Amino acid sequence: LLFYTARTCKPEYNNVVNLAASRKLTELPAWQLLAEHYRAQPFELATMFAQDPHRAATLTAHCGDMLLDYSKNLLNAKTLRLLVELAHERDMAGAIARLFAGDVVNISENRAALHTALRAESPVMFNGHDVTVDVRRELERMRVFVTAIRDEHKITDIVHIGIGGSYLGPAFAGDALLAYAEKSLCVHYLSTVDGGVLQQLLARLNARTTLVIIASKTFTTAETMANAHAVQSWLAAQLGSEQAALTQFAAITALPGEAVAFGIARERIFEVWDWVGGRYSLCSTMALPLALQVGMEPFDALRAGALTADDHFRSAPFDQNIPAILALLDVWNTNFHGAASRVVLPYLSGFTRFPAYLQQLEMESLGKHVTTDGAAVDYDTGLVAWGESGTNGQHAFHQLLHQGTRLVPAEFIIACRANHAYPGHHDILLAHALAQAEALMVGNTIGEPYRVCHGNRPSTMLVLPEADAFHLGLLIALYEHKVYAASVIWDLNAFDQWGVELGKQLAGRIQPELLPQARPGTHDASTIALIHHIKTIAGRPL
Ligand code: F6P
Repeated sequence: LLFYTARTCKPEYNNVVNLAASRKLTELPAWQLLAEHYRAQPFELATMFAQDPHRAATLTAHCGDMLLDYSKNLLNAKTLRLLVELAHERDMAGAIARLFAGDVVNISENRAALHTALRAESPVMFNGHDVTVDVRRELERMRVFVTAIRDEHKITDIVHIGIGGSYLGPAFAGDALLAYAEKSLCVHYLSTVDGGVLQQLLARLNARTTLVIIASKTFTTAETMANAHAVQSWLAAQLGSEQAALTQFAAITALPGEAVAFGIARERIFEVWDWVGGRYSLCSTMALPLALQVGMEPFDALRAGALTADDHFRSAPFDQNIPAILALLDVWNTNFHGAASRVVLPYLSGFTRFPAYLQQLEMESLGKHVTTDGAAVDYDTGLVAWGESGTNGQHAFHQLLHQGTRLVPAEFIIACRANHAYPGHHDILLAHALAQAEALMVGNTIGEPYRVCHGNRPSTMLVLPEADAFHLGLLIALYEHKVYAASVIWDLNAFDQWGVELGKQLAGRIQPELLPQARPGTHDASTIALIHHIKTIAGRPL
């Protein structure tokens, strides 16, 4: 196995066994056929639709009552056949089986990635132990806690302190499921270390009716701990003692001992495990603020939706398998059409934070430059994922999508039924989503050059019956699996994130150097000059 030492981030080889398909991606027969196929075709959507009257029906897939329409992509039936062949040559089926079996798919950290066990209904054995027993125990403890807090009506505000995977999932899902929310409970998220936000928030809160959750798998993340200590001091000042302050806390962590050392009561500490990646953890106790906000029932429905997606990923043939198709589209658009980014456009209520959620899931997972055995890749990986919800983007960046010079595949997410009391608004939203996809494809050749849209711009449409809790869970898990499927094709570890470590280490060194009189350490000339400049302007002696 290949391990990276936490200190140096350099690979150390220990009985190297390549768990991924053994041949280089670009040498695989299907890859070479795809390259030939790409060169031989113009991939004009208008022509391809004219030539194939069934195209709109055939280039679709279903997961239960959810539809994926990818007919507006720059591919044809042969492309799909070759992409599926590529998935077979990459042993995607074996890779999926290994994920669900709890094999060490995160080889640089020697860990499994068993987020599917968080919603599994049958036992999942890992290291000789059924981990679903642990999951059920922690979720049951969470259920008791959530019910008590919601029934007692003593807490009015919840401050959830966490960052990355320890906040993006519950924050996004909380917005998306606002319809279920308990109106008397207000959930605030403190993620980045923003003293201004902290100050404004604390000024509005009543310490006696505020519950503070520290969410950190490692219980060491700098921003989270800085926010946690600041809130703790504020609580102590408001309530008159450290002890009183600590009674307002709960924690979610993989290291309960650290939370106990912080002073949090053991019965208020909820566990996650190192076999669940932070960005894949929404179905775990990481959803505590979400469950407090919307209740356990919607959370259970969300987990049921995720389980449906798990079953689909495991069993659907690849040409009907939504995560596999989405991954293959990313590979096709990245490595053959040369796309550098993909815009994600949820025309759905409460999906404002979805692009940020997806950015962590996709870009921390697929932003990698070496294969699972440590070799440099000779192809592009990980598209930049970005986007905006509703029609906001139409009045901002869609201009570039329609008339810019870059190819930016668009991914629309819509729901057939509204989940609120304004169906008229929902129809406007739907009409705009459909119109944008149509405009990207058909374009407009009439008028002066500046009016012309060439069209033939690819898009994909994910269609939910309704954006309720079940379908939210379904959608999230389909994206989780899409990321894994893409990592299998690109031969990447989708579960580590070593690229973020260097910046953390440097910040730890620079922070004390900003103090008055502190000497700057060894840095590049630009960083030293900036430290000097900041201290001079801030009036801190050098
Ligand atoms: O720095 C990146 C990261 O490690 C993410 O992967 C993770 O979700 C986040 O930081 C928070 O980590 P923790 O839960 O340990 O505070």
